[in-house]
Amino acid sequence: MGAAPPSADPLIRLRVNGADVDVPDDDVTLLEVLREQLALRSLKDGCSPQGQCGCCTVWVDGSPRVACVTPARRLAGREVTTLEGLPEADRAAWADALVATGGSQCGFCTPGIVMRLAALEGPVSDDRIDQSLLAHLCRCTGWQTIREASHVALGAAGPPAGGADRVRDLGPAATRASLEGGVPQRVGPDVVLGDAGFADDGSPSDALVAVPVAGSGYAVAGSLAEARSLAGKVQGRSTTVALGHPVEVPPGEWVLTLATTWVEPAYVEPDASWCAPGGEPASPFGNGGAFGGKLGSPVAEDARRLAEEHGRPVRVLWSREDVVRRGPKRPPVGIGMMSDGSGVLRVGVSGDPLVGSAWDALVADVAAVAPGLVLEQVPVTGPATSLALRAAVWAEAAVLTAVLDHVGPGPVLDTPVEVASPRGARATARCRADGSIGIEVSVGRVLDPVVVRSYAIGAAHQALGWVGSEGIAVDADGDVRDLTMRSFGILQARAMPEVDVRIDSAATGDPVNGSDAVFAAVAAARWLADGLVPTWPTGRGTESRRR
Ligand code: FES
Ligand code: FES
Repeated sequence: MGAAPPSADPLIRLRVNGADVDVPDDDVTLLEVLREQLALRSLKDGCSPQGQCGCCTVWVDGSPRVACVTPARRLAGREVTTLEGLPEADRAAWADALVATGGSQCGFCTPGIVMRLAALEGPVSDDRIDQSLLAHLCRCTGWQTIREASHVALGAAGPPAGGADRVRDLGPAATRASLEGGVPQRVGPDVVLGDAGFADDGSPSDALVAVPVAGSGYAVAGSLAEARSLAGKVQGRSTTVALGHPVEVPPGEWVLTLATTWVEPAYVEPDASWCAPGGEPASPFGNGGAFGGKLGSPVAEDARRLAEEHGRPVRVLWSREDVVRRGPKRPPVGIGMMSDGSGVLRVGVSGDPLVGSAWDALVADVAAVAPGLVLEQVPVTGPATSLALRAAVWAEAAVLTAVLDHVGPGPVLDTPVEVASPRGARATARCRADGSIGIEVSVGRVLDPVVVRSYAIGAAHQALGWVGSEGIAVDADGDVRDLTMRSFGILQARAMPEVDVRIDSAATGDPVNGSDAVFAAVAAARWLADGLVPTWPTGRGTESRRR
């Protein structure tokens, strides 16, 4: 770490991780000073300048603070600590605990969460931990394993069974994580400590920075702040526009119908890449598959092209607003089903109609879980839709099939519903009267039970949000109106029920992705418990909505 680059502005002095640092006294935020000028890459930028994801959390004079909305000039003479600056024993304690519970998957949110929770003093309770986590968003884990790790790291609990108390081979853990995440994935202390291989973390200090401008193209400049200023970036907002259900349920005498809305995949690491002239662009799949949301991302090829154009390394960085405007959404659907399982599933498609192998694959997947459904596509006006997103469309079909035997008036609790995925995994889920969720899952050879459990809880969290609270508003012109992290309806830690997961450890078949089956099974169980309300999300006014 060294002094910031020379500047005409006067300097202010901060103390960062125990060393004095002089930085220009200009309008930059603490995040820009730490990440851009001092190259401290443990803290992440998931939403700046929205201040809503918590990924940039550091300590200022020992108290957690979100760096992206903290002006650096207010911190003259103050002590700033990042995860790099925590005592080695504390870093190791958090890394061990989170690896042992599976509390870090992609790892993008993790350093900020560690900085928040490591500041807790005195007795810790689930309530105190959940209260602290209100400042954060984790899309992967479902919170429970983070809570468990917190008790361990803060000394209130011993290591979890099967975790840190035995030597664990993290090779099979990474193999299992890769199966669940859909792209190669790392598991281990480095991920927890902020070194999971995210594209932008490895970008060279002399790279130009490119950020999208409205319409198309990029603004390219010598720093992120300059590039955003050139692009005219303003903070994205949420809206009071109501959620819509753009695909009508087909006409028919159905016993069961469902209409869904646009759902944001809400992966926390925004799309990013960098490339040197003549080189290979950094993969945007740093340590996660973004639930399929980045499979069509243009950032790597954009970085390659811009590097050639400028004859210098170029970082391509999307902001949260760019991700919401440009990234794909889960397609809205309208479904009607008869008591024998026959019916029609209409899938909303934005842009070119689905043809060829993509359509054939979807037809096959839906036939595997709901053979009586006829699939239709209808054009919708709105953001791009993608079938690559987690179990898109076949999960919806599987949900209706799973609950069909339980259609009747009122909510149904304590009833197991089962989903067999087209990939061969099986999951059973139930919503219990005490509010907890029970899951049984069979995924072939387990490889690593900690990872299977973690992904199952994470999938349950996404399923509960999908049914109950998630959706983004799209106006009549097809423009997305919910542009902030907090407007997507993601369940916060304190809204997440206890989940217990039983894994079929005797299964000997080839390992297969299990979290998609869990996702569909938990959604079915939740919907049953909600009384099969025919439009999703079924609940409004959840604590995480419309902040
Ligand atoms: S990047 Fe600062 S809160 Fe999201
Ligand atoms: S592990 Fe929290 S967002 Fe991925």
